[in-house]
Amino acid sequence: MTAVMEARDITRHYTVGGGMFSKAGIVKAVDGVSFSLEPGHTLAVVGESGCGKSTLARVATLLEPSTSGELLINGQPSNPETRLAVQMVFQNPYGSLNPRKTVGSILMEPLTINNRGNASEREAKARAMMAKVGLRNDHFGRYPHMFSGGQRQRIAIARALMLNPKVVVADEPVSALDISIQAQVLNLLMDLQDEFKLAYLFISHDLGVVRHIARDVMVMYLGRPVEFGPKAQIFDAPRHPYTRMLLSATPSVDPRHRKQAVTIRGELPSPLNPPPGCAFASRCPHADDRCRNERPEPRMLDGVQVACHHAEAI
Ligand SMILES: Nc1ncnc2c1ncn2[C@@H]1O[C@H](COP(=O)(O)OP(=O)(O)OP(=O)(O)O)[C@@H](O)[C@H]1O
Ligand SMILES: [Mg+2]
Repeated sequence: MTAVMEARDITRHYTVGGGMFSKAGIVKAVDGVSFSLEPGHTLAVVGESGCGKSTLARVATLLEPSTSGELLINGQPSNPETRLAVQMVFQNPYGSLNPRKTVGSILMEPLTINNRGNASEREAKARAMMAKVGLRNDHFGRYPHMFSGGQRQRIAIARALMLNPKVVVADEPVSALDISIQAQVLNLLMDLQDEFKLAYLFISHDLGVVRHIARDVMVMYLGRPVEFGPKAQIFDAPRHPYTRMLLSATPSVDPRHRKQAVTIRGELPSPLNPPPGCAFASRCPHADDRCRNERPEPRMLDGVQVACHHAEAI
């Protein structure tokens, strides 16, 4: 099957500093990410704060250009048409909706901007989409502040679907919501995925959420994937020491006993000055001289890609 989105060795580097008193440096926020996403599938991207998840999301939605690498949508390089096939849902349903617009006009806006249909067709499509995400017809003329967080995220999801995208990039879409509401919104996302054959690039730091929704999981560390494969293998037989550490730092992936954020020992090295070898070596119980000096490239092992010199032995 043709991938709806294919990333080939994507990097996104930022130049920082370089003022009168500081030397310019390069932050390698995303540094070599490849994946292919098929219709109807969910790829979850996990990792600690600062590992490059949101940067990858912005590059995948073409909000930002990559520094190098290729992004193909339906096998084509990005162009104005393929661009519309990828839409985004953000973490914060409070900030992402214009407070001065009604739900109806928020939903019709993507159609208006892209000259789709006439006024009555736009309204009909907005009302139909509201029903699909569980909003009532009389919500059409209301303003975002009149809704709860979960309902606002439903509005944001409806808006993302108005142009019939093939891929939805969701950056922590339920992290700002109460635990009890999170499951409802995740179930909605899964129902919509079935109905519209949507592919999701689903960004989350929450392994409980990921276990619920993902088909494949990419674990990132300091801008690079360290382990990538089918969900069952990542959760039940992790091969990378960092994946193991993330899982053990999550006491339970049962949503009722979940901690908000993963906390693990040691500091993430600075992305401004990454170590020469494996980026995880400073925190890894298995690290040796080779790890400190030679960067492990991703390689296939038992159906997963893993970037660790010792993956067989641990
Ligand atoms: N515009 C920018 N200019 C300079 N550095 C940036 C910029 N955007 C992100 N970064 C840096 O890139 C790295 C990755 O940031 P990013 O926001 O992608 O991480 P994240 O995994 O989404 O983190 P979080 O879980 O906290 O949302 C961080 O070191 C961040 O400081
Ligand atoms: Mg982020």
